[in-house]
Amino acid sequence: MKASDIPQGQGVTGEIGGRHVAVYNSGDQLTVLDNVCTHMGCQTEWNAFDQTWDCPCHGSRYKKDGTVMRGPAMGPLPSLGFRVEDDGIVIE
Ligand code: FES
Repeated sequence: MKASDIPQGQGVTGEIGGRHVAVYNSGDQLTVLDNVCTHMGCQTEWNAFDQTWDCPCHGSRYKKDGTVMRGPAMGPLPSLGFRVEDDGIVIE
């Protein structure tokens, strides 16, 4: 996944190094989350209108930073350490 492919003010889901990730670009910085819903393990999808990560399985919703907005998930999407190398996002 290339950092420059993520539009400013938007999120993108995908895989990096075999991990499901949810990446948000604030314009100043990227936020990289482990995209495994903490309810039962589905992958969330970016909701561009509400600027949230929404789980299609049972309706959990997370804020851009991964904190829970609505259950049934109880825990946040964990933040992952990363670096950008030659425009590629590398999970640390
Ligand atoms: S797996 Fe995401 S809400 Fe159930």
